Amino acid sequence: MKILFVDSCMKEGEDSRTRMLCRVFLEKTLAAHPDYQVETIVLKDMDLKPYRQEDAQARAELIEKGKLDHPMLALAGQFAGADRILIGAPFWDLCFPSLLKIYIEHIFATGVTFRYDGPRAVGMCRAEKLMYIQSAGGFTGENDPGTVYMKAICEMLGIPKFERICAEGIDIQEIPTQPQIQKALDEIERLAPLW
Ligand SMILES: Cc1cc2nc3c(=O)[nH]c(=O)nc-3n(C[C@H](O)[C@H](O)[C@H](O)COP(=O)(O)O)c2cc1C
Repeated sequence: MKILFVDSCMKEGEDSRTRMLCRVFLEKTLAAHPDYQVETIVLKDMDLKPYRQEDAQARAELIEKGKLDHPMLALAGQFAGADRILIGAPFWDLCFPSLLKIYIEHIFATGVTFRYDGPRAVGMCRAEKLMYIQSAGGFTGENDPGTVYMKAICEMLGIPKFERICAEGIDIQEIPTQPQIQKALDEIERLAPLW
């Protein structure tokens, strides 16, 4: 079992509360499933560029020629081949940092992560589960735009189970931070062994 951890946190190390939650989640998952292997990519340390029309065209040509091992398709291939996917991202501007959106542009490759059956998109990803871990300064509710978008991505790419854990309200002065983080840690304790 290969876990792909898409680290979309923007702070260094565990200054990022989101990354801390992801680390605990992975530790608890691995304690229950010592055979799982984790592959991590840290988006802020990669030189990801937003897609432009010419990139989309170059990618379409590569796929048409069957050159699926081209570096341009490496992230899509990695995403498609993972058994479990963990995405960790802080709640930024009601959503998530833009580097995560750019990453998604890189993995949405027809013929790698999804294909068309007539007009219908059919997911080609191997993962059974995607876990989305967030932390938020305020309260997001369950239908924040990032969560809704991640759910839609799972549906389109053929990942049957979407789960989410969010430490909410952790920057509100009137609310003590630690109990808010603890709620997310309790969720992690419950869900990680089942993952
Ligand atoms: C650029 C930026 C945008 C943010 N936007 C929001 C927001 O829209 N809503 C909110 O509740 N918190 C917002 N926050 C606060 C973060 O969600 C919160 O501090 C989070 O815990 C950061 O996670 P981290 O410690 O992993 O970086 C924002 C923080 C930053 C730096």
